[in-house]
Amino acid sequence: MIRNALTVAVVGATGVVGRTMITVLGERRFPVGELRLLASGRSAGRTVSVDGRTIEIGEAVPDAFEGVDIALFSAGADVSRELAPAAAARGATVIDNSSAWRMDPSIPLVISQVNPHDLEGHQGIIANPNCSTMQLAPVLMALRDSVGLERVVVDTYQSVSGTGADAIAELESQIRAHVSGEPVRAEVYPHPIAFNALPEIDVFLPNGYTKEEWKVVMEDRKILGLPDLRISCTAVRIPVFVSHSEAVHVETRDPITPERARELFASVKGVVVQDDPGTHDYPLATAAAGRDEIFVGRVRRDESIPDDRGLALWVVSDNLRKGAATNAVEIAEILLERNWVEHASARGARPYRALEPVGVSGGSGA
Ligand SMILES: NC(=O)c1ccc[n+]([C@@H]2O[C@H](COP(=O)([O-])OP(=O)(O)OC[C@H]3O[C@@H](n4cnc5c(N)ncnc54)[C@H](OP(=O)(O)O)[C@@H]3O)[C@@H](O)[C@H]2O)c1
Repeated sequence: MIRNALTVAVVGATGVVGRTMITVLGERRFPVGELRLLASGRSAGRTVSVDGRTIEIGEAVPDAFEGVDIALFSAGADVSRELAPAAAARGATVIDNSSAWRMDPSIPLVISQVNPHDLEGHQGIIANPNCSTMQLAPVLMALRDSVGLERVVVDTYQSVSGTGADAIAELESQIRAHVSGEPVRAEVYPHPIAFNALPEIDVFLPNGYTKEEWKVVMEDRKILGLPDLRISCTAVRIPVFVSHSEAVHVETRDPITPERARELFASVKGVVVQDDPGTHDYPLATAAAGRDEIFVGRVRRDESIPDDRGLALWVVSDNLRKGAATNAVEIAEILLERNWVEHASARGARPYRALEPVGVSGGSGA
């Protein structure tokens, strides 16, 4: 039986996602007894203030997970590959934000309002989807369940916070350099991100897609339970600080009107329809930043698809909150509600076994 207050570790606690996780745990009053903040050896010994308490950052090493109930990982795929099995072996349930485990068939890849049932029987590691997938799949779910999905084409407009703290600093410094007429230096991205649009997120794959684009393809198929879904993506980094936007074109199996689609989207938990072109009201990155919802607007017939089976829409969400931290905490809440926090062996689920990470090769991004 799980105690009321849990020992929760945040791995990557000094990063933008880790810091947002700490905020979201507090906002949602997740029952944290001990909060263990972990990062690299570079940060170990530093202190941070959380709700008036001073907490020392520890180094993320295997023994740091002794006694941890839930470990929220957001320190990159390499750290997750190394330490998530070590944490699970010590009895922690890992909710991992990296791409390390998402495509392993034995690891649940979960969006709280789409497939929470996939958490049952987890073996100690649960994967949190990529931020671009996170805001898309709940919207697609509404169409899957009503009129069926034939084909999806999505183009993303992704903020720099999706890359992490260094990229936020790089955009700021490039804007300052531009304004003061100084040379613009690019270090995080291969080209300046200020006043630009870069069609390259994560590494290029042999099929010509980037790994980010392929994550959207593969993760949506897995989460929606549609392994053959025809879906394509172009992922673009733009000079926005927070929130990803997506232009989505959907071919449905059966006809659907934009009015009905709006009703369906509005009925999904955590999805808000914001769609009044007459008053210039549609989802915006700046307005979505700091919010937990997924905003949908510009819903219209895709006139290139016959028989009223096409929809075009615009989907925006805060990549640090629903796209990462909030969904991770929502998963933890579901585990707690359903008494699925405990280690697999204690729940009678299959015992933890060492798992090889599976996925497209290369890269270590979100
Ligand atoms: N940003 C997003 O929107 C987003 C969305 C979904 C998933 N993610 C994923 O979340 C993770 C973190 O992203 P972020 O944006 O927060 O990056 P970030 O701001 O660059 O922070 C990286 C964090 O990882 C820690 N870290 C780096 N190397 C480590 C090591 N060897 N051992 C332990 N900790 C280490 C860093 O600690 P130090 O400060 O000590 O270096 C820092 O806390 C990545 O896996 C990313 O792919 C990000």
